[in-house]
Amino acid sequence: MKINLKSSSQRWFLLLLVIMIFITVATGGVLTYLLYETAFEEQRGRLIEAAQSQARLIEAVARFNASSGNYKDLQEAAVATRSQIIDAHSHYKGFGETGEFTLAKKEGDQIVFLLSHRHHDMNDLKPVPFDSEIAGPMRQALCGLSGTIVGYDYRGVKVLGAHEPVEILNFGIVAKIDLDEIRRPFIRAGLIGGSVGMVLIAIGAFLFRFISEPIIDDLHKSHKQLEEFNYNLEKKVQEEIGKNKEKDRLMVQQSRYAQMGELLSMIAHQWRQPLNAISMAAIEISLSDSGDENELKLKREMTKFIEKQTQYMSEIINDFMNYFKPEKDRVLFGFKDVFDDILMLIGPQLKSRGMKIEFLYDESVVFLGFKKELEQIIINVVSNSRDAYIDQKITNGIITIQVEDHPDHVRLSIADQAGGIDPDIIDRIFDPYFTTKEKGTGTGIGLYMSKEIIERSFNGAINVENIENGTRFCISLPKTEKASFA
Ligand SMILES: Nc1ncnc2c1ncn2[C@@H]1O[C@H](COP(=O)(O)OP(=O)(O)O)[C@@H](O)[C@H]1O
Ligand SMILES: [Mg+2]
Repeated sequence: MKINLKSSSQRWFLLLLVIMIFITVATGGVLTYLLYETAFEEQRGRLIEAAQSQARLIEAVARFNASSGNYKDLQEAAVATRSQIIDAHSHYKGFGETGEFTLAKKEGDQIVFLLSHRHHDMNDLKPVPFDSEIAGPMRQALCGLSGTIVGYDYRGVKVLGAHEPVEILNFGIVAKIDLDEIRRPFIRAGLIGGSVGMVLIAIGAFLFRFISEPIIDDLHKSHKQLEEFNYNLEKKVQEEIGKNKEKDRLMVQQSRYAQMGELLSMIAHQWRQPLNAISMAAIEISLSDSGDENELKLKREMTKFIEKQTQYMSEIINDFMNYFKPEKDRVLFGFKDVFDDILMLIGPQLKSRGMKIEFLYDESVVFLGFKKELEQIIINVVSNSRDAYIDQKITNGIITIQVEDHPDHVRLSIADQAGGIDPDIIDRIFDPYFTTKEKGTGTGIGLYMSKEIIERSFNGAINVENIENGTRFCISLPKTEKASFA
C-alpha cells in the first residue's frame, strides 16, 4: 500500500486551518454579541431616564405656567409652555450622532410633531398619520404608554426609542437613537477583530508550516526509505525463491540422469546374454563355410536364432521405454504388478550377482496412486541395498520387500542384511547430495528424491532403521478415499 504523506499532511493542515478560523470567528462573534447586548441595555436605560426626566420637566413647566396667573387660560399657558420648551431645545443639538428628543401630540388622526432636533426644518414639521407604520415610539407615547421599543421613527429609520406620555399637555415625548449608531462600533470591532484574527491565523499557519515542514519531510524520507527497504526485501525473497526453484529443477534433472544411468546399466545387464549368444552364433557362422547342405541348414537356424535374440533385445528396450514414460494420473494397482515390473527391471542385474528379492505380500491388496513413481522409489532403495551388498562383498544377499495393509495406509518395508548404516551418518542419508560412494558411482540424490516424491505425491513418509546386520526402510503410504473404498 502506498501512502502519500505529503498530500495527507496537507489535508490535515487545511482541516486544522478551517477549525482555527471557525473557533476564532465563533468566539469573536459570541463576544461581540454579548458586548453589544450590554451596550444596548445601557443605551435603553439612558433613553428611559432621558425621556422620563424631560417629560417630568415639561409637566413641571406646564404646571407652573398654568398656576402662575400670567396667562388668561390654560390653553394660553399650554402654548407658552410649548414655545418655552421648543426654545430651550433649539439650543440643544441632541445626543450622540443620531440621538434626539421628539415631542408630538395627536390631532385628529394625525401625529403632529412639535419638536425634533435633527431631521426636520423646525418651522415645517410634517405630521404622520396615526395608523401608519412609522413613528412607532411616538404612537406608544401618545397612547399613554411608558417604555421602550425598537421600531421605525417618523423618517422610517429603525431606532431604539424610549416613549413617555406628558400629562397635563397630552403630549408624547420620545428619546431615541438610530439602531445603526448603537450597532456600528460593534460591527467595526467585529470586523477589526476578525481581520486581526485572520492575520494572526495566517502568521500562525505560516509558522506552523515552517516548523512542521522539516518534520514532515523527515517522515516522508523515512517512509520512502522503509518502502524502498520493503521493496528490496521482497525482491531478495523473490530472488531466493527463484534460486530455490532453480535448485529444485537442477536436482530433478540430476536425479533423472542418475535414474537414466541406472536404466542403462540395467539394459546393459539384460543385453549381455543375448549379445553373447549373437556373437557366438556369428562366430559359428563365419567358421563353417564348407558349402554342405547341413551347413546351410545350420546357417539358416543360426540366422533365425540371431533374429530371435535381436527381437528379444528390442523388446527389452520397449519394456524400459514403457516404464519410463511419464505418468499423469493415479491408477489403482495391485502389488504383484509392481513387483513384476521391478523384477523385470532390476532382477537380471541382481541375479548376475547372486542376489535376489523376496516379496511378502497379499495379492488382494490394492492401492491408488502413481505406480511408476512408487516403483522408482523401490528401485532406488533396492539399488542401495545392492550397492551395500557389493560393498560388503556379499554375493548371495537377499532383499526382502514386505507389504502390510492397514485400514488407512499401506506400509512397505525394504530390508537387507548388508551390514547397516553407520549411526553417525544415518540422519543425513536423506539429505541432497549425501553419499558415501565413490565419485562416479554415487550421486547422493536417490534417497532425497525418493523422500520428496513420497511426501509430495503420496503425502506419505519414509524412514530408515538399522536392524540386525542390515538396514530396513519403511515407507508409509496413506490411502486416498477412492482407494479405501475400492
Ligand atoms: N541399504 C543401505 N545400506 C547401507 N547404506 C545405505 C543403504 N541405503 C543407503 N545407504 C547410505 O545412504 C547414502 C545415500 O544414498 P542415496 O541417496 O541413494 O545416494 P547414493 O546411493 O548415490 O549414495 C549412501 O551413499 C549410503 O551410504
Ligand atoms: Mg542410491
